[in-house]
Amino acid sequence: MTYNSDALVFFGATGDLAYKKIFPALQAMVERGHLNVPVVGVAKAGWNLEQLRERAQDSLEKHGGVDPAAFAKLRGLLRYVDGDYHDAATFAALRRELKDAQRPAYYLAIPPALFETAVEQLVKSNCSKGARMIVEKPFGHDLASARELNKVLLGSFEEADIFRIDHYLGKQAVNNMLVFRFANTFAEAFWNRNYIESVQVTMAEAFGVEGRGAFYDQTGTVRDVVQNHMFQVLSNLAMEPPVRFDSESVRDEKVKVLKAIPPIEDNNLVRGQFRGYREEKGVAKDSETETFAALKLEIDSWRWKGVPFYIRAGKCLPVTCTEIVAKFRKPPSLIPDSRLTENHLRLRLSPEATIAMGMMVLASADGMTLQTREMVASRAPRAGDMDAYERVLGAAMEGDATLFAREDYVEEAWRIVDPILKQKTPVYPYASDTWGPEPVERLAPPGGWDDPGIGQDGLSLASQAA
Ligand code: BG6
Repeated sequence: MTYNSDALVFFGATGDLAYKKIFPALQAMVERGHLNVPVVGVAKAGWNLEQLRERAQDSLEKHGGVDPAAFAKLRGLLRYVDGDYHDAATFAALRRELKDAQRPAYYLAIPPALFETAVEQLVKSNCSKGARMIVEKPFGHDLASARELNKVLLGSFEEADIFRIDHYLGKQAVNNMLVFRFANTFAEAFWNRNYIESVQVTMAEAFGVEGRGAFYDQTGTVRDVVQNHMFQVLSNLAMEPPVRFDSESVRDEKVKVLKAIPPIEDNNLVRGQFRGYREEKGVAKDSETETFAALKLEIDSWRWKGVPFYIRAGKCLPVTCTEIVAKFRKPPSLIPDSRLTENHLRLRLSPEATIAMGMMVLASADGMTLQTREMVASRAPRAGDMDAYERVLGAAMEGDATLFAREDYVEEAWRIVDPILKQKTPVYPYASDTWGPEPVERLAPPGGWDDPGIGQDGLSLASQAA
């Protein structure tokens, strides 16, 4: 249904995510004229509305800056309900705060263990009619729990009214992957098993768990970013062109990618933990949780059968960058194979968005030395760009499900990683500022891992501002 939600209620209003991401997104929505409805924060913190407003201001000062006019308006839109999620009185107070709102959007930015209680209370308090549910990740912690959560949500809401957040889908560069693939004729010509030899995706973060030790220790890299963010990137890379660009046609193609991926076997996974992780607040002294994961998988589809896909993600690595490198098969050239490096396509998703084609050229006019040079199109983020959370919250309030994970998709994603979550595979220590534990080389793609930011002197052939 295409109507706009007439209130936004966010559970977990005093939490970390709200502080870092939600308030800045709300201010930006106001600034753009996209938010003009009451915004009700709910939490159990013993706070009042004034404290929530102060928190919002503090959040904005630390994350992007206060826009005086937009913030003044946001202050006016804010409401606050304090109370326990198990207590019916909290939801009675919420109903009162909602006043005559008929189509509120409820955003659950709270631990998944509380989802069921929140849903039950919303139904009992007569708050659920006409409502949308926006659900923050992680959506469960394995296949069984995700199914259970889906059951709880679908017991009271229609799938069309459920918006499972993966903020990667709100990133411009992630969406641009589909434009690159489906709005350019040439891309389709080589984007298949006949030309591509391997694909690797790296999500590197140069920082640790940043005070989220207690959450992270229950989660680990596979659950935190592989099952969701990395699989969304993978789906964009591997999906077939949708028959239409409506949300269901796009999501149908994404789920087909996951259906074609067999469960990952433990010999195709290397887990690591940065040295010092066990001393982080909230982390068990003998923790076996991974802060780094590298894995190899296959997509058994017509397009991709036989092409290995590699994913590598971790904390405390040398840089913060998310990048895809697809390597091409070598040509049947008269030039000896040993002198050729594979051509590549490099898609960088952050910190800047880059599309680069790596190709062989003569190193100098007179010699016969070959070298790889990149043709690069790159765009750095600019002030005023829409942030991922702003984009997904706006889309959910408009009822556009394209940027959200569907029921079948999340369950397929869990199915793929479920076996490796249940196996006790070794977790190897690694030093901060390195590219993970040494055994990761065992799983390296042909030609090795391409470490972002190292050894790339692009712009040699041509450069172009996107
Ligand atoms: C979150 C993870 O979902 O994504 C974090 O919980 C991670 O651990 C973050 O750091 C990365 O998001 P972004 O947008 O900074 O790449």
